Amino acid sequence: MIKALILAGGSGNELRPLSIHTPKPMLPVGNLPLLLYQIERIKKAAITEFILSISYPPRTIHSVMQEGDLFGILLRYHVERSPLGTAGAFRRAKNLIDDTTVILNGDVLAEFPLQKMLEAHQSRGAMVTIGTCRVSNPQAYGTVEINQQGLVKRFSERPRGSKVKTNRINAGVYIVERQVLQMIPRQETCFFETDLFPQLLQAGQPVLAYDIGQNWREITRPASYLQSNMDLLDSRITPPSFPAYPHKHHPPSHPQVSVDDSSLVGENCVIKPGVRIVHSVIGANCRIEEDAFIRNSVLWPGCRVQESSVISGSVLGKGCQIGEGAYLRSGNILGDKSLITDFSRV
Ligand code: GDD
Repeated sequence: MIKALILAGGSGNELRPLSIHTPKPMLPVGNLPLLLYQIERIKKAAITEFILSISYPPRTIHSVMQEGDLFGILLRYHVERSPLGTAGAFRRAKNLIDDTTVILNGDVLAEFPLQKMLEAHQSRGAMVTIGTCRVSNPQAYGTVEINQQGLVKRFSERPRGSKVKTNRINAGVYIVERQVLQMIPRQETCFFETDLFPQLLQAGQPVLAYDIGQNWREITRPASYLQSNMDLLDSRITPPSFPAYPHKHHPPSHPQVSVDDSSLVGENCVIKPGVRIVHSVIGANCRIEEDAFIRNSVLWPGCRVQESSVISGSVLGKGCQIGEGAYLRSGNILGDKSLITDFSRV
């Protein structure tokens, strides 16, 4: 049976402070955990067994996802005592792997035609198929050079200068045959990108590149996290629809509250008269006092925003408190329970 492995065991340091108390799979995008987007995309290809590979306790994720039944899947947690690398994590899961495996980088938020990619993988008899897309800044990724048959010729991880030969990059979506498990070097840490894939090419194994299209992004820093939420509000990303975890807007009913059509408000929020919310995501249980103005921002659950404050282009972690008349200009990323005092300008 084809299973999916989601790799989410990286340090997540670049996402700090957001990732300090919230593991990456649980980062809310439009008030729903990132992991649900990934599961929904993969489930479309009739894959219902998932392995989540992490290197920290699964407690927070498990409290929401449990064994996956609520989402119509079986979800297993694989916890590494110390990170084993992306291919090392696959090797670690070998007892659960009995067939082809779909592997997804846990920071990828994309629309990808997995069923078609699986068909191409099978019909071309590939050992590995790598989802690729085009970007304007390939040097930040792993580039993938292909031949006329669409087979991979060369990988370059974060190439520089003249080594950038293409803007086609590894999108972090793979289909991998079970035999690959035997080819993973038995070193302490091992990565697909820098260890295994180059080794497969050297051994002459067929590694296929499959263009998954351009609706692709990864959430690696607070700025890309904020942008992903903005993309969702602009309908560039489709929210997952699981009855157990509905994607729902709870617009405030008070006539003197203005929430534009693109914004999303979570449940049990208290929003007072004179508040304006533009193109923003407001998490559950937030309280926003009179005349506050929030635009292009994401507030996690339980934030409290006092009167007449302005929040622009910012992310507020859980339970932040913003004082009266405070002004947060674009680019503020506040960790959970941050406190901004009255009339501060940050
Ligand atoms: N289980 C586990 N163990 N997961 C890991 C480990 C590990 O030791 N190391 C990294 N991961 C997970 C991360 O949590 C992340 O979700 C994913 O693997 C990718 O790792 P990153 O370290 O974030 O890689 P990257 O984003 O810089 O680059 C990778 O992704 C790009 C596209 O998203 C590479 O695969 C590039 O080639 C690629 O272009």
